[in-house]
Amino acid sequence: MNNFTFYSPTEFVFGKGREYETGALVRKYGSKKVMIVYGGGSVVRSGLLERVTGVLKSAGVEYCLMGGVQPNPIDTKVYEGIAICRNKNVDMILAVGGGSVIDTAKAIAAGVLYDGDFWDFFAGKEKVTRALKVGVVLTIPAAGSEGSGNTVITKTDTLQKLSLRVPEVLRPVFAVMNPELTYTLPAFQTACGVADMMAHIMERYFTNTQDVEIADRLCEGTLLTIIKEARIVMEYPGNYGARANLMWAGTITHNGTCGVGCEEDWASHFLEHEVSAIYGVTHGAGLAVLFPAWMTWMAEHNVDKIVQYAVRVWGVPEEENKKKVALEGIQRLKEFFVSLGLPVTFKELGIDNPDISRLVDSLHRNKGEYVGNYVKLSRKDSEEIFKMACVI
Ligand code: NZQ
Ligand code: ZN
Repeated sequence: MNNFTFYSPTEFVFGKGREYETGALVRKYGSKKVMIVYGGGSVVRSGLLERVTGVLKSAGVEYCLMGGVQPNPIDTKVYEGIAICRNKNVDMILAVGGGSVIDTAKAIAAGVLYDGDFWDFFAGKEKVTRALKVGVVLTIPAAGSEGSGNTVITKTDTLQKLSLRVPEVLRPVFAVMNPELTYTLPAFQTACGVADMMAHIMERYFTNTQDVEIADRLCEGTLLTIIKEARIVMEYPGNYGARANLMWAGTITHNGTCGVGCEEDWASHFLEHEVSAIYGVTHGAGLAVLFPAWMTWMAEHNVDKIVQYAVRVWGVPEEENKKKVALEGIQRLKEFFVSLGLPVTFKELGIDNPDISRLVDSLHRNKGEYVGNYVKLSRKDSEEIFKMACVI
């Protein structure tokens, strides 16, 4: 196991009706004026935004609003938010929504206290050392941004979708998580969230680091939980227990709990970020296509952990032919994704002829000569994986 520092100070406030505590939480963390960030309108339609503003008023907290954050959030909304916060002397950002809203809130929080262009942080020119506090009311279990120290933003003029990871500054101070808020999710969004949270575990699980039994078992147990609860939720969207288990799983898959002590991979995410940046697809759907392709490539190049995954997560019988065991595990993963209504090929994702050379160029321009760690992918390797995602 590698040395690690695990610092996860977010206060998670979980369960039915907990959004009514948002005003008290904002005050607890010392804010007098928040900017509420939200998305395309689901929180307006569900009445959540009205409930949250109501409890802020009761708690004597001033607020202003910035709606209109789109999935795969963009830099222009971050600039807009920074300007509002400076104008109105906002001292905390309250994200009410999913990963796109939370990531926008985090980027604004870092940008407000920085004199230069916030994109400097994403481009690696500057380090984030301070940011406004971010609080969250979560509406979709998926990206795990409510507990992560990451934010992912797309620069519109270059179509670069880049992630910024600064756990010591960017983790939200609190996250309100009421599973009932997820009942209104369209089935496709629920399924995309499931694929994303599974991917967050697998990026950590597929590691060459030895002696990580605790991480392995946490990962496998969480994957088994997600698979079980996702099947229930797809059939019974109003099942509280299954929604609650999925929601907490989404957090622990990405707040670091499952992967401490491991060298993480993240190649599948970086491959996918190119696809969602250029083609605008939903992140989880892109992962449902690219992760099985990445694993199939790995069955040829570094099979051992794929075999362990196939046996322990998908119940594939052990046998001497490792590749066969690995491929059977990957097949069961794909069948599971298909059962949730997810795509597993580019075509099913709605991209008939992906521009693979553009995807490869952009990936290696953004991430360097080699991508990932389980096997470090060269340009040729990433091209092969993108091609596999066309036919698998
Ligand atoms: O915009 P609204 O109208 O709110 O609708 C949203 C949006 O269309 C809808 N939705 C959310 N909660 C709902 C709801 N609809 C009905 N009822 C509800 N309760 O769902 C759609 C997707 O929302 P979004 O916030 O985009 O989803 P998600 O949480 O999957 O976030 C995806 C983004 O997070 C990034 C992804 O790349 C993508 O840009 N990621 C962020 C990470 C992080 N910060 O740590 C890690 C991830 O790997 C990921 O890359
Ligand atoms: Zn993800």
